[in-house]
Amino acid sequence: MLSLTDLSLFLEIPLTDVRDLVKAQKGKRLDSHHVEPETVRAILLEAGYKYPHKVVSLQMLKGGVAKTTTALNIGTRAAMYGARVLFIDMDQQANLSFALGCDREDLPVWIDIVEKKKEIDECVQFIEENVDLIPSGLNNSVLDRVLLNSNRNWAQAVKGPLAKIKHRYDLIIIDTAPALSAVNTAVTVASDQVILPVNPDKFALMGLKKNLEELADLAKDFDLKFERKVLFTKFDGRENTSHELLQKCIDSFEDEMMKSYIRSSSEVKNTIRSHRNLFEGKSPAKVDYDSIAREVLGFENLF
Ligand SMILES: Nc1ncnc2c1ncn2[C@@H]1O[C@H](COP(=O)(O)OP(=O)(O)O)[C@@H](O)[C@H]1O
Ligand SMILES: [Mg+2]
Repeated sequence: MLSLTDLSLFLEIPLTDVRDLVKAQKGKRLDSHHVEPETVRAILLEAGYKYPHKVVSLQMLKGGVAKTTTALNIGTRAAMYGARVLFIDMDQQANLSFALGCDREDLPVWIDIVEKKKEIDECVQFIEENVDLIPSGLNNSVLDRVLLNSNRNWAQAVKGPLAKIKHRYDLIIIDTAPALSAVNTAVTVASDQVILPVNPDKFALMGLKKNLEELADLAKDFDLKFERKVLFTKFDGRENTSHELLQKCIDSFEDEMMKSYIRSSSEVKNTIRSHRNLFEGKSPAKVDYDSIAREVLGFENLF
């Protein structure tokens, strides 16, 4: 839940005024330091904010660049700001599902939808207020082969089923495995925005270029109009390589860069491991992911 302090910072009004707003919404005495997502939603809608209606995927053919971390933190923060969020885990490693506390191998996953064993609705797990998840698991590891061997239009394998439930959410966030696969092509076809995380590593730019080329080809082949965004992650101000690679990214991909980058922070690891929420603590990564979540929600242009 969003703290009263964070809401006051976001709205740029004093804490006492925020308290009044919350009380007016609830019509009762304020009894905690936090505000429920639906109350935040009502306050922000009244203040003129509009929630988006979009599908965002995290992709990068390289592993360990913070795809899952970014998916988790954008979605978690967006839900705290009152957005209705659906996470879809498309990586058979299921790190996102585990981070959200969903670690059962017997739950239905995307392959069950593709093989028509389950309706998409039956695969949606409730995580908490405003947060749902379609989990992944090892069963999804044959998804790529099944898609390629099917006679049907496999490129629609994500977008097609999603159409049935899309209207319920403001933000659908899809985490993917590090690959240029049929699954990821189907994810791209369903995406309004693809976020490509890169970390300070000497192969990072090569991977990014290759991934951007692949996305450009897909956009042409399938006549797609998604937005491509590059997010620099794990920035360490003490390391020269961090500064150099960030500068190279800005020079090469100025138009595609997201407005903030993510600093390296031990809190990120700790929160995922212990299933804690990064936004309940204080860390550089909290501030950075807050900006990115606002950018994705389209809230940042209002200031
Ligand atoms: N900002 C950050 N600061 C420190 N560690 C991070 C940060 N972002 C991600 N990590 C760590 O990097 C590792 C890889 O992140 P992960 O999100 O799993 O990458 P991917 O999904 O791209 O493979 C994880 O151990 C994660 O905790
Ligand atoms: Mg991952």
